Amino acid sequence: MERATIGLVGLGTMGAALALNIAEKGHRIAVWNRTGSVTTAFHAGAGDLAGNIVPTDSLSDLVAAISPPRAIILMVPAGQPVDDQIAQLRPLMGPLDMIIDAGNANFHDTERRAAAAEAAGVAFLGIGVSGGEEGARHGPSIMGGGPKAGWDRVAPVLQSIAARHGDTPCATWMGPRGAGHFVKTVHNGIEYADMQMIAEVYGVMRDGLGLSAPEIAEVLERWNTGILRSYLIEISGAVARATDPLSGAAMLDVIVDAAGQKGTGRWTAIEAQHLAAPVPVIEAAVMARNVSARRDERRAGEAAFGAGPQRLSVDLADLEGAMIAGKILCYAQGFTMLAAASETYGWGVPLPECAKVWRAGCIIRSDMLDHMSAALTEDPARNLILAPAFSAHLKAQHGALRRVVAAAALAGHAMPALSAGLAWFDLMRTGRGTANMIQAQRDFFGAHGFERTDGRPGKHGPWGAHG
Ligand code: 6PG
Repeated sequence: MERATIGLVGLGTMGAALALNIAEKGHRIAVWNRTGSVTTAFHAGAGDLAGNIVPTDSLSDLVAAISPPRAIILMVPAGQPVDDQIAQLRPLMGPLDMIIDAGNANFHDTERRAAAAEAAGVAFLGIGVSGGEEGARHGPSIMGGGPKAGWDRVAPVLQSIAARHGDTPCATWMGPRGAGHFVKTVHNGIEYADMQMIAEVYGVMRDGLGLSAPEIAEVLERWNTGILRSYLIEISGAVARATDPLSGAAMLDVIVDAAGQKGTGRWTAIEAQHLAAPVPVIEAAVMARNVSARRDERRAGEAAFGAGPQRLSVDLADLEGAMIAGKILCYAQGFTMLAAASETYGWGVPLPECAKVWRAGCIIRSDMLDHMSAALTEDPARNLILAPAFSAHLKAQHGALRRVVAAAALAGHAMPALSAGLAWFDLMRTGRGTANMIQAQRDFFGAHGFERTDGRPGKHGPWGAHG
């Protein structure tokens, strides 16, 4: 029997979709799943693609079905299951064979697994795959990490299944070891932030302006024809437009206001703190999801203090402007964090490529990312807010962001992400800040010392023992 080009372990939703995508692009793929009946059912349901799929019922059969040097994609839940699967597979594989973890791994795990693979002289890739089930099936965005030679070996397959922006496949090597999974983590942090900012302006439209869900859909649909054109604005318009088949009410109005999460957005916030790379919009988005889940406490708060959001008056044009400014600020923070991580871990992540790989296939895909990739190509070291195209937007729109955040604050609407973006923006344009007070306090209670503005000698103030 003809051997397969590649193998895949784990036929859950994402694994199955990815396997079908690979088969559809003309590659022969061998598959294995822990529960054998899942493999059989998957193969039976693959229709025309079944001829390109080799179902196997043991890991050794899987390995034997692939032509060496082998590459096997793992699509199993992140964490211990990945380690368990590697431990079972590795002894069956040759030194040139490669394991590819395509799950949503914590990049620290990927760094550890890469180091173990390197020590054993075998190749291991950690790749971030974005786009949900639909993306996995018809074209995800793929952020690769691991040895470049290993990536190059499987790049033809991965690029053939990836989404395309024009002629460019959205499947790119981001650097060694955990780089790919780190880029995916930042992607997810930005995903949380984009979603939260949309939720905030939705709240202003619903509770502040009293718009109905279909009216809100109309606004979002209009925004999706302008600068904000993106997958998340598009689907937000679609969900606002939808009617609940059970009650006939707007679908949005019958959905409980408590958000779930699997944790990758939280990882972004945690890593940002480790790196001292501020991503306040993302942190605020993670915080807001956590608060959303505490429904009982929020209800108790409303009973104690009265309902937060009151009617307010803002222009829809200002709301759109606030979103434009907030999005730029958020991405500027995300790219700066990526640069900091890349330097700390020695990955050499190409920021323009990262913006390019997010242009299609992934959840945060948007027109703006195309302009961001151009700005980062001009000067990858410059903060995005200083790139002429984006500083022009910010100059035009920060007033709108300010008016929206101010009106929201006065009317009791929480806008954690947008207001965090505004606060960061104002900090970033304050040449003379207020941390001289912090330095004085630190010196006062701990003799930590400070630097003087006038260059004169002395690094302590005239207080107590340190005067
Ligand atoms: C993607 C998404 C995906 C993520 C879901 C759910 O890029 O396709 O980021 O990987 O798992 O969006 O994430 P939460 O459950 O944390 O919201």
